[in-house]
Amino acid sequence: MGLENGVKEMTINPALPEKTEQLYGGISATNRRITTRDLVAAKARGDRWPMITTYDALTAQLFDDAGIPVLLVGDSAAMVVQGHDTTLPITLDEMIPMVAAVVRGSSRALVVADMPFGSYQLSPEQALGSAARFVKEAGAHAVKLEGGARVRPQVSALVEAGIPVMGHIGLTPQSVNVLGGYRVQGRGSDADHIITDAKALEAAGAFAIVLEVMPAELATQITAAVNVPTIGIGAGNHTDAQVLVWQDLLGLTPPPHPRFLKPYADLRSIMTSAVREWADDVVAGQYPADDQDYV
Ligand code: KIV
Repeated sequence: MGLENGVKEMTINPALPEKTEQLYGGISATNRRITTRDLVAAKARGDRWPMITTYDALTAQLFDDAGIPVLLVGDSAAMVVQGHDTTLPITLDEMIPMVAAVVRGSSRALVVADMPFGSYQLSPEQALGSAARFVKEAGAHAVKLEGGARVRPQVSALVEAGIPVMGHIGLTPQSVNVLGGYRVQGRGSDADHIITDAKALEAAGAFAIVLEVMPAELATQITAAVNVPTIGIGAGNHTDAQVLVWQDLLGLTPPPHPRFLKPYADLRSIMTSAVREWADDVVAGQYPADDQDYV
């Protein structure tokens, strides 16, 4: 699409470097998407990999170009995009356009759509109906759902229908009201339940399992006990992969931060300074300058 008056066609992020052929996790993917088999193979080789949340095409493109093999469209969008206090309010209808945008923005990453609260708990049939919408309407390559042994029928039904499933155990934020807050899970005798949940998910056909906020020792034990990759968040350094919400990773979310978080940038300060600099220029009549004018 060309514009008149000498304005060149716009690209989303012309400054980004060329895509690398080698993605994190020792996975090479030239002109193709990562598959769940690539991830299971990475575990067998002992290669670790990162997963990042994303909710829009622009960040999806940036993370995909950086070589991140798995993008999660998390229901954390309820909090970091929509401004809710929990992940509970977001709906399937609200998440489908986000997943579609992430699929459009990426070309190599496996895109995992998070099943929102209330879209799968009722029955395997309900889970299949919801997951099929993510696949058909948004182009998702896999779905994630929370829970262990209790969602085994749902996981089996989806896998039998041809939809790869990522499990999620430990601190499951959709159960915050039962758990009594965002608390560490699996301490003491609760550890056995979580190990049983991990094995149930593997047996049902899950291709990977998120382990959220649990003792590092327990996550290490689970990682050794299953053949599918484990993806830690607040679960120590011995899982096969790690995941973070991108706004946390890049320092956009305000404190207080959970103990497990190490922000790798301070986007909040950078963006605040840039916006203030622009606003000051506007007020002072210094923006736009002559070289931003059209002639
Ligand atoms: O919704 C989400 O972002 C998640 C990750 C934190 C695992 O479930």
